[in-house]
Amino acid sequence: MFGLFEQCSNDGPFLPQTPGSLLRQSRAGRAFNIRPLKQSDSALVGEFLSQLSANTLLNRFFVGRNSLSESAITAEIKRLYQVGKDKGSVLVATYCDPAKEKEEIIGLGEISRDRTLYLMAEVALTVRDDFQGEGIGSALALQLVNEARKKGLTTLRAETLFHNQPMRRIWPKLGLPYSFQANHDVTIMLALLNP
Ligand SMILES: CC(C)(COP(=O)(O)OP(=O)(O)OC[C@H]1O[C@@H](n2cnc3c(N)ncnc32)[C@H](O)[C@@H]1OP(=O)(O)O)[C@@H](O)C(=O)NCCC(=O)NCCS
Repeated sequence: MFGLFEQCSNDGPFLPQTPGSLLRQSRAGRAFNIRPLKQSDSALVGEFLSQLSANTLLNRFFVGRNSLSESAITAEIKRLYQVGKDKGSVLVATYCDPAKEKEEIIGLGEISRDRTLYLMAEVALTVRDDFQGEGIGSALALQLVNEARKKGLTTLRAETLFHNQPMRRIWPKLGLPYSFQANHDVTIMLALLNP
């Protein structure tokens, strides 16, 4: 059983570990944790969202903004908690900078149920800019596949901008039969869990 650590510490495990969480190492050698979103995470999610660059916001939300407004952040946090209530899943990747002695959210992945096709879910991933390219998005995506299997989902779907190479490269690595369908600047990616 994992111990629960409220704060980071240099003396022991420095990431809060709860049952169901996974401790990993990024390509750059930084330890990160993947765990479900908790009720008490809303402030951390707000910090995470407020730090995303214009490029990351464009790739994730398809909007051209330098940053998210406070009201947009509040609405997004509310939406994320609703995803869980609607029987989807939200996972966070967390990192503990020993200098700051505080857990931070550095990545967020979700599967949200389609409202009409109940066994299909939309996948969305976001990794904080200063942690991109270290394998965290791939780790979140693979963990979301496990969540989707547990929920008996049959199909995963994601929309990505055509130029979004990292997202396009993650999809084939899910280990599932998949397809890409180009629709102007957007690529619709499908993957089947129970072919
Ligand atoms: C897409 C995103 C979640 C990927 O997360 P990540 O942690 O950066 O991705 P990973 O490090 O796991 O890399 C995934 C793949 O992309 C490749 N990659 C990473 N950065 C890249 C870049 N700048 N150009 C080309 N390929 C890149 C990696 O090499 C890896 O492929 P490989 O395993 O074949 O080598 C992240 O970049 C992000 O948050 N982007 C903005 C939001 C977004 O685009 N969301 C997706 C739409 S919902």
